[in-house]
Amino acid sequence: MSEHFDVHGGARLVGEVEVVGAKNSVLKLMAAALLAEGTTTVTNCPQILDVPLMADVLRSVGCDVVIDGDTAHITTPSELSHRADSAAMGKLRASVCVLGPLVGRLKKAVVALPGGDAIGSRPLDMHQNGLRKLGATSTIEHGCVVAEADGLHGAQIWLDFPSVGATENILMAAVLAEGTTVIDNAAREPEIVDICTMLVEMGAKIEGAGTSTLTVEGVESLHPTEHRVIGDRIVGATWAFAAAMTRGDLTVTGVNPHHLELVLEKLRLAGADVTTFDGKGFRIVQPERPRSVDFVTLPYPGFATDLQPFAVALSTVSEGTSMITENVYEARFRFIEEMVRLGADARTDGHHAVVRGVEKLSSAPVWASDIRAGAGLVLAGLCADGVTEIWDVFHIDRGYPHFVENLNRLGARIDRVATEPERS
Ligand code: EPU
Repeated sequence: MSEHFDVHGGARLVGEVEVVGAKNSVLKLMAAALLAEGTTTVTNCPQILDVPLMADVLRSVGCDVVIDGDTAHITTPSELSHRADSAAMGKLRASVCVLGPLVGRLKKAVVALPGGDAIGSRPLDMHQNGLRKLGATSTIEHGCVVAEADGLHGAQIWLDFPSVGATENILMAAVLAEGTTVIDNAAREPEIVDICTMLVEMGAKIEGAGTSTLTVEGVESLHPTEHRVIGDRIVGATWAFAAAMTRGDLTVTGVNPHHLELVLEKLRLAGADVTTFDGKGFRIVQPERPRSVDFVTLPYPGFATDLQPFAVALSTVSEGTSMITENVYEARFRFIEEMVRLGADARTDGHHAVVRGVEKLSSAPVWASDIRAGAGLVLAGLCADGVTEIWDVFHIDRGYPHFVENLNRLGARIDRVATEPERS
């Protein structure tokens, strides 16, 4: 049975919405539980498909995982398997984050290449080079990353690019290496700060979280902890764009507005009135048609690539012309052809997109190609004449808990429709 959304155009979103824990943090925190024998508890978990998938990945190496509402209890045994090659591995990108902890604890790992969104090539060279610097060998064999070491030692590591995943994997191996590791050009995303906070709670010694230089002093072992996942800044920003596009009035809680400073500034430039509540959330009111704004994606604190589809969606209905530059993933403009089906005046040239805003979009059947592109199409559908059918919505369900329910509560009309497969 496949499902699609019927999005009725012409909504104005008004009200309050609470954001829960960040997808791109919780999955890594769950992997970090592998580093300590015993039961680690992660709270404020979002109820999205990727959380049970990550639980399956952890079970495949020997953990016992119980998910109870928004809480995950992960019990890690003293003896873990070094093979993480179950079917669940291929279903999400974050599964690769078991590599660092397994190498850290067992000094060997066979980890199936991860799945994830079709947004461009996503090599693992920086993950592997980092592990090699720590003293492991690393090769790709039969669809798996294979890593092995006699012992791990601290090292100076320079990343070519502040990769989120490579920073996390190297960090999780280095916390149990002998001596001091320095990761330069490390990612600075709030999710990196979150995992550093949790690792320190578990007994790791890490300095520099949130800066480009992480210094890790290896320790003998870590112990379990209880940790609350930070609010999802990408979901929080999605609601901010939703308010701006529908000329709405939304109060968004559960997310730290400091994680969204550039985003909220861009929306102010587009004409929104934004009030922030320290550490807790923000209110955004869009009184008139948004004005065009340019966006450039970059690693944090730059404008997140995960928000680029919303920048495009906003630009399609803004007054004026916007240029959006994508610097992180080469194939992340693919969804623009779906926006064009909805009447957007948009074209791409390499890693730039030029979007001339139109007064109103026009409904059509469209296909979600990844989580964010899918959610961007939903927002565009809210600004279109008629009913927009959005297909392949399982992508959206991977990142947005209760998305349709929240949108409907805030004034949208979206029906989730199950379709019987056609008989041949
Ligand atoms: N890269 C390499 N080699 C590597 C690692 C990365 O060339 O060894 C390149 C990638 O190809 C990409 C860039 O570096 O061009 C950035 O990749 P990064 O490693 O930072 O991304 P990631 O860890 O694979 C996470 C999020 C993505 C988000 C990016 C960037 C998770 C599970 N995924 O991916 O989130 O776009 O960071 O912020 O944390 C999403 O949630 O929709 C999503 C795609």
